[in-house]
Amino acid sequence: MSQPAKVLIVDDEELIRLNLRMLLEDLGYCVVEAADGREGLDVFDREGPDLILADLRMPVMDGLSMIAGLQEKSTETPIIVVSGTGTVQNAVDSLRLGAWDYVIKPVEDARAFEVVIERTLEKARLMKENRLYREHLEELVRERTEELRKTLDELKLRHQEVSRLKDMLADDNRYLFVELWSASGDEIIGSDFGLKAVMEMVQQVAPLNSPVLLLGETGTGKEVIANAIHYSSPRKDGPFIKVNCGAIPETLLDSELFGHEKGAFTGAVSQRRGRFERADKGTIFLDEIGELPLQAQVRLLHVIQKREIERVGGTNSIPVDVRIISATHRNLGEMIASGRFREDLWFRLNVFPIILPPLRQRKEDIPSLLSHFISRKSIELGVSTPPTVAPGALERLMNYNWPGNVRELENLVEREVIRHRSGRLMFDSLLPAGKETITLDRREGAHERNPLKLDEVISLHISNVLRMTKGKVHGPGGAAELLGIKANTLRARMDKLGIKYGRNK
Ligand SMILES: Nc1ncnc2c1ncn2[C@@H]1O[C@H](COP(=O)(O)OP(=O)(O)OP(=O)(O)O)[C@@H](O)[C@H]1O
Ligand SMILES: [Mg+2]
Repeated sequence: MSQPAKVLIVDDEELIRLNLRMLLEDLGYCVVEAADGREGLDVFDREGPDLILADLRMPVMDGLSMIAGLQEKSTETPIIVVSGTGTVQNAVDSLRLGAWDYVIKPVEDARAFEVVIERTLEKARLMKENRLYREHLEELVRERTEELRKTLDELKLRHQEVSRLKDMLADDNRYLFVELWSASGDEIIGSDFGLKAVMEMVQQVAPLNSPVLLLGETGTGKEVIANAIHYSSPRKDGPFIKVNCGAIPETLLDSELFGHEKGAFTGAVSQRRGRFERADKGTIFLDEIGELPLQAQVRLLHVIQKREIERVGGTNSIPVDVRIISATHRNLGEMIASGRFREDLWFRLNVFPIILPPLRQRKEDIPSLLSHFISRKSIELGVSTPPTVAPGALERLMNYNWPGNVRELENLVEREVIRHRSGRLMFDSLLPAGKETITLDRREGAHERNPLKLDEVISLHISNVLRMTKGKVHGPGGAAELLGIKANTLRARMDKLGIKYGRNK
């Protein structure tokens, strides 16, 4: 059972207090008393009543002052004024100060008085319940809002993490794509003949972690050998990351090699791993090492010595486990002598040098290289029956000096296959050794004496672009887009020129 409500009677007349007490106790209330406003406030503080019955005119502190004092305590306890001075003004004043009701003394109608008290108490109870309920709801809303905020923060973090990983994957994909593209079809021709010594060295050094320096003229196959070393080394399941040191603008070199943190410089919108980090547990191929600016040589030396990198704008050192293969067609000895290449870096890179002989010194490889390129180019160019070699043509190839080495032979074969398709390859644009001025395919002056037909050039160009897009013709990144023409126009051209469709590997 709930406790009886406690009523505080504040009145200076003892008799009135007694009467009211009897009346209220009969109704089942618990009663406390005070003889003036001051005492009323004290008893209120001490007893915490549920209802106050207040007289107005009292000594020490009158009823209105007491009501004002109670309001200062911002109490919810209802006050009913019970006064003999029944002026309208008194009633208005007390109600304005916060009294809930006004009853004229002496209380004659006990029943009516009881109703006033009960209704007031009920109303106060409802108001309190209402307030508690509202507070409870507010608390709930606060809690839920806080929970939601935390979840949202968490989601934001997850989202950031996911986009970071996505960037990283996209980045890796780009590199892997490029690597795959350049590594495809890297069968080594001549490994039992002209490249025998080279291949023996590859076999010796591949299982180790030693740095390898590949030296040789342009087009001799340095990249092919770098690939071979990686893929026959214990690191073959790790990444093979190529860096063309001459192709990266100096200002971007550090960020490319070592990566950067978000905001490290204008344009560094997200964190990015550098190629050394990407090459972790694998091999990094520093191609054209002779083109590396001196500043970058210092930093590279540091990384090789410490086996750790620091991203641009970063503060942590990140350990990297990377095997280094470098290559150059330049004479590094001369570059060291003229101060363009650091000798200490050269010592680090040149642990195991491999020199690729120029093609003119291993002409025995020409026939197998020739048939290798004829079949490869026929597939690439969509020529179903590979062409044959005209009598005397091989002799021309053997007598030529090959300043552009294997690459030059490869390009020449490609050009001949485009010209003669399934016919006979003549190689009649070649001059014998010593007179080679016009044969370097795709170089200035190459076609002056025997220019390609316009259709041949177009066909060559379309085939090259199709190779870049892996045979994709239409849509974003397709050949039509790259060539700036409609896909239908391109298809019509391809039909006319006899270029095959189909996605390559
Ligand atoms: N022994 C080989 N067998 C088959 N293809 C070869 C061989 N050597 C070179 N090639 C081909 O010749 C082209 C040039 O080779 P590569 O890019 O390795 O030369 P490089 O020495 O790195 O030239 P550069 O100094 O200009 O970078 C490539 O397309 C490669 O596939
Ligand atoms: Mg190369």
